[in-house]
Formats: sequence, C-alpha cells, structure tokens
Amino acid sequence: MKKTTAAITAVGGYVPEFILSNKILETMVDTNDEWITTRTGIKERRILKEENAGTSFMAIKAAEDLIQKSGVDPSEIDFVLVATATPDLPVAATAAYVASEIGAVNAFAYDLQAACSSFLYGMSTAASYIESGKYKKVLLIGADKMSSILDYTDRTTCIIFGDGAGAVLFEPNQEGLGVQDEYLRSDGIGRQFLKIDAGGSILPASEETVKNKQHYVYQDGKSVFKFAVSNMADVSALIMERNNLTHEDVQWLVPHQANRRIIDATANRMGVEPAKVMVNIDRYGNTTSATLPLLLFDYEKQLKKGDNLIFAAFGGGFTWGSIYLKWAYNS
Ligand code: UT7
Repeated sequence: MKKTTAAITAVGGYVPEFILSNKILETMVDTNDEWITTRTGIKERRILKEENAGTSFMAIKAAEDLIQKSGVDPSEIDFVLVATATPDLPVAATAAYVASEIGAVNAFAYDLQAACSSFLYGMSTAASYIESGKYKKVLLIGADKMSSILDYTDRTTCIIFGDGAGAVLFEPNQEGLGVQDEYLRSDGIGRQFLKIDAGGSILPASEETVKNKQHYVYQDGKSVFKFAVSNMADVSALIMERNNLTHEDVQWLVPHQANRRIIDATANRMGVEPAKVMVNIDRYGNTTSATLPLLLFDYEKQLKKGDNLIFAAFGGGFTWGSIYLKWAYNS
C-alpha cells in the first residue's frame, strides 16, 4: 500500500483595506521611509480598522476565500487549526468561533501559538493528522492582528508589523506530493528578547501594567536578528542536505517575512537565486502567523504540480524550523 502524504490542495487569503505606508508612519513616530526600507524592506502594511473586529474577522475572510475558490464543502472539514499570536480572546479558542462561522459544523478546532513560527508548526500538526489517516480535511489558518499589540509611539516595533490572514487545506495524497520532511526547533532563551510582559499568568493585567505599556510587543531587534539569521539559514540548508536537494532542485523558498535582510541571507546560504524567493514583506510587513500562507496566496498561480518548496520561519520563544513540501496542483 502506498504511503499517505499530506498535500496542500487549496489556498485562500485576506488583507485589510487600510494601507499604513512608511510616509504615514513618518507623521506618527521619529522615522523615515529610507531607514525602514533599507533596514527592513517594508514599504507599507495593512491594518484592520473595523470596529470590534479581531483576528477571527480576517481568519474567516481567508477561509471563505479558500472555500469559494476550491468549492470544498465546509461540513466535510474535520479539523480547523488557527495559528495565531493574537487570539480574539485570551480564553475561548478563536478557531472554534471561526469553524462555526464558516459552516465547519462537523469539525473540532483549536489555536496554536508559537509566535512567528505558528503557521510552520501548524503545517506539521495538520500534516501529522492527515498522515495518520485519522482525518481527511484539515483547514489551517494563519492569522494575526498585530496592530492590537503594538505601541504606535515605539518606532522600533510599530514599523515592522501588519495585519492579515491566509488559509490552506490539507488533504491525503497517494502520489507522494505534499509534506516530505520537517525540522522544528525551539530555545527558551528567546523569551527575554521578544515578548509581551503582561496579561499572562506571570503578570496579569492591572492599572500598573497598562500604565507601564506592558501589554505591547517588546523586541530587542538586534539580538533577535542575530538568532534569526543564523537559525533560519541553518535549518533550511540542513533540510536541503538531508533530502539531497541542490539549489537547482528547489523551485521556491517560502520564508517568514520578518526582515528582507534575513530573507536574503537565508536564500544566499541555500544558494537559491532571488527569482525563486517568495517575498511580500514590502506590501504587508511582518504579519506573524499569516506570512507563509499569504505568500502562497500571492504566488499560487506561479506554482506547478511537483514543485519543491522549502518553508522556513523564525519567531519568539524562540521557535523556528523548516519544512520541505512538494506542491500538489496547477492553478
Ligand atoms: O518575526 C519575528 C522575529 N523577528 C525578527 O526576526 C526581527 C529581527 N530584527 C530586525 O529585523 C531588526 O533588528 C530591526 C528591523 C528590528 C531593527 O534593525 P537594526 O538594523 O537591527 O537596527 P537597530 O535596532 O540596531 O537600530 C539602529 C539605529 C538605532 O539608533 P542608534 O542607536 O544607532 O542611534 C535605533 O535607535 O536605528 C534606530 N532606529 C530607527 N531609526 C529610524 C530604530 N528604529 C528606527 C526607526 N526609524 N523605525
């Protein structure tokens, strides 16, 4: 009997309408377009402005886009996994609400949080359920409303992130397509460098924590940069080596979009030429859990059945890793 692999069979995406350009940011904090562009590669990012709308608003839109394009019957979806660092509520899984809203009435659902690696780790979870034979249709959504946890007076963080959502469907494949290999890592040393101090179980919300701005993202950018550059490149090179892939065998690098310089360093290390590197950081900034599926959303039409894709991500925790996947369809 042939081995069952887990293939991506559909993609959807959503970004909010409002564009926060570098020019607008210049009027909000002491920064400039030239610094942001050369240090990060970002020109603009999307911000969700709808009132009372959280991460689920975008996750639902991305899932609906996927359902509409693929024609999948939502009642046949077995499992809805929402990868996010910004759930609607601290308690009550965002995924459960999303599943109900999109008509996935027979699914179970939960959230997965691994900062900027959430979607990559989610791919591993989704693929494992499919490979085990337990479930046939797994909807994985990466969504984050980063604007809800940013201090728009802090120029070191507010220029980096944006809001968005992307969705993929995983299904069993008998042709050997889909996820081939993964290498996932973590190191708790990272939490001093990239974190939100308050609102968790160590330091619950209080007047004091609000006054001290401890509910916003804190990042020691330089330290995170050093870890990200070496680790993302290392795991990507390792997964190529382990699968006897040369740069010629790789059609696409799908890297987390944190900083253009990190993306370029990873591609260089792998020997992958720029034309094969998916990039949308210039238009969306760092959308955390949404970066990888939004890349697939943007590049879907260029992907061909059998293409070798290397995914790579690095995020808070620290968490990081790489996944090798064979694309399963022509658009
Ligand atoms: O996705 C999760 C993982 N996150 C990452 O991978 C992010 C990794 N880190 C980075 O991408 C970069 O470290 C940043 C983009 C966050 C910062 O770039 P950098 O080249 O590391 O800058 P820096 O923090 O070393 O700051 C250099 C200078 C400083 O001024 P002085 O001390 O040299 O006078 C900053 O105060 O740039 C200044 N600066 C800014 N200037 C204008 C910092 N932010 C800004 C800004 N506009 N927005």
